[in-house]
Amino acid sequence: MRLVEGPSGRKYNLAFQQSPTLIMPVSEAVGTHPYLRLLGIGLFGAVLCFLLTRNITQPITRLRAAASGIASGRLKTRVDPAVRRRHDEIGTLGRDFDRMAEQIEALVSAQRDLLGDVSHKLRSPLARLIVALGLLRQASPEGTPEYLNRIAQEADRLDKLIGQLLTLTRIESGIESTQREKFDLTNLVQEVAADGDFEARAHNREVKVVRADACTTLGVPEILRSAIENIVRNAIRHTAPGTSVDVTLERITAIEPKAVLQVRDYGPGVPERMLRDIFVPFHRVPNQDESNTHGAGLGLAIAERVVRLHEGHIQARNAANGGLIVEIELPVHGITV
Ligand SMILES: Nc1ncnc2c1ncn2[C@@H]1O[C@H](COP(=O)(O)OP(=O)(O)O)[C@@H](O)[C@H]1O
Ligand SMILES: [Mg+2]
Repeated sequence: MRLVEGPSGRKYNLAFQQSPTLIMPVSEAVGTHPYLRLLGIGLFGAVLCFLLTRNITQPITRLRAAASGIASGRLKTRVDPAVRRRHDEIGTLGRDFDRMAEQIEALVSAQRDLLGDVSHKLRSPLARLIVALGLLRQASPEGTPEYLNRIAQEADRLDKLIGQLLTLTRIESGIESTQREKFDLTNLVQEVAADGDFEARAHNREVKVVRADACTTLGVPEILRSAIENIVRNAIRHTAPGTSVDVTLERITAIEPKAVLQVRDYGPGVPERMLRDIFVPFHRVPNQDESNTHGAGLGLAIAERVVRLHEGHIQARNAANGGLIVEIELPVHGITV
């Protein structure tokens, strides 16, 4: 209560009454208090910035995911429809990206189909040639000329090469999810090593399983088996007489558990600059030795694609004390008991 004097000189008692809610409404407080007003503006700005940034970074993250899909060979990858529907530059970029992906996919599949068709077409006359050769041998059984054996040998090689080319084109076109199954990788590796050991012993070499952790993976066991077989056969072919090829299967429990398979031999290894090239079709190390005269250089190319189809990774490196180590990493799906 306060005593005030009016313009006429009359005295008044001025009484205040506190608002029943002690706390002022926020909007009022923000409106009146300078610091609170600043804080309000700041908060509003921050929310606006956050929304704006998210509006830009989210589609870019999606674009990046699509690009990395294409980069890792999944040519069917397309940009998220939400990005394509946008009416800004990011939307245009998304639509252009999809057009590019379609073009790449069409080109690659046309090339693959051509390779597959050519291989198929070559196979029939070759099969007839092999039959004719057999008949010719039967017709003159006494003393088959040396060059006929040579022709048979070359025809056989050609047949194997065409078979590998067909495998490569089949694998390139991907594997259906229905073909995939969960299987025991440890068992598969042990079987391949045992078969390899049988072959190797005939040439004074052996294949040893040094370690085999329990691993189960998801995929197509037959094609994974042929990929591992090729690696083990290469190692047997290159390892020095009297030495062994060491096979190790390790289960690594990182954030995502994985199986690491290593095939190590005691041979000449591969020149450092060619460690990546040996996974490219038809690439072979020149002047290696007479043990490497067979094969067309498709085995590791097939293995690389097979491993990629299993969401894995393959690489080769030279061991410190000589020999080549080929390492395959595969995701594991549960533990076998
Ligand atoms: N264990 C190894 N030691 C040395 N060189 C190897 C080994 N494995 C592969 N290579 C080299 O890599 C090349 C490609 O191997 P691959 O694709 O299996 O073809 P291929 O066995 O038909 O020659 C081989 O020709 C050989 O030069
Ligand atoms: Mg090979």
